[in-house]
Amino acid sequence: MPDPFRLVTPAPVYLPAYRAALEEGWSPNTVLGAIATHRELDQIDRNPMAFLISLDDPKGKGPPIVMKDGTTRPRLPGYRRWMWDGAFCGSIGFRWQEGTAALPDHVPGHVGFGVVPWKRGHGYAARALAALLPDARGRGLPWIEITADEDNVASRRTIERCGGVLIGRFEKDAAHGGGESLRYRITL
Ligand SMILES: CC(C)(COP(=O)(O)OP(=O)(O)OC[C@H]1O[C@@H](n2cnc3c(N)ncnc32)[C@H](O)[C@@H]1OP(=O)(O)O)[C@@H](O)C(=O)NCCC(=O)NCCS
Repeated sequence: MPDPFRLVTPAPVYLPAYRAALEEGWSPNTVLGAIATHRELDQIDRNPMAFLISLDDPKGKGPPIVMKDGTTRPRLPGYRRWMWDGAFCGSIGFRWQEGTAALPDHVPGHVGFGVVPWKRGHGYAARALAALLPDARGRGLPWIEITADEDNVASRRTIERCGGVLIGRFEKDAAHGGGESLRYRITL
């Protein structure tokens, strides 16, 4: 049987399955958690096309990012892709700054990903991350950085499988929940 797994650009055909995952309580954002779930359900109900368009923003034209504490930060260029194997599996987001691999303090890494609990255990996040790397390289980035908490073994394994090397530890700021986290780098 052909391998059904792929990354898709968010589009109307996938939206009911994405919305259903949110309704199950899944969040595409590990930092914001349920806040992001509710925000996105609200955006989808108000204007589904505008929501989909907002997920593909390689020029960073969208509104500022709203942090957990309600304060805002400038939006970077970026996009999201959805993991799909015939059903919705998860989401991966990539953001960057033009002309530099550096990121502002409020951005915890170039990439964030999540798989819905009922699709875990198939290595889908590693496949999604591997699929993004050629585009990151094509944008002239010498490397990308990804952060993961020490106890998040699945995330750390995912990053390591894609060539991630641990380069340091850092203290997360309050807007990201505080506590120590690990910083990985994937050389492109
Ligand atoms: C991180 C996440 C996306 C990985 O999902 P996934 O692709 O289904 O990952 P898998 O379950 O296939 O596990 C990936 C690897 O971690 C290993 N792993 C998973 N859970 C583990 C555990 N509790 N202990 C040891 N190893 C574990 C798997 O064996 C696999 O290892 P392998 O590559 O050597 O085969 C998923 O767990 C998730 O959505 N977590 C919540 C969101 C999150 O933490 N995102 C990352 C933010 S940095």
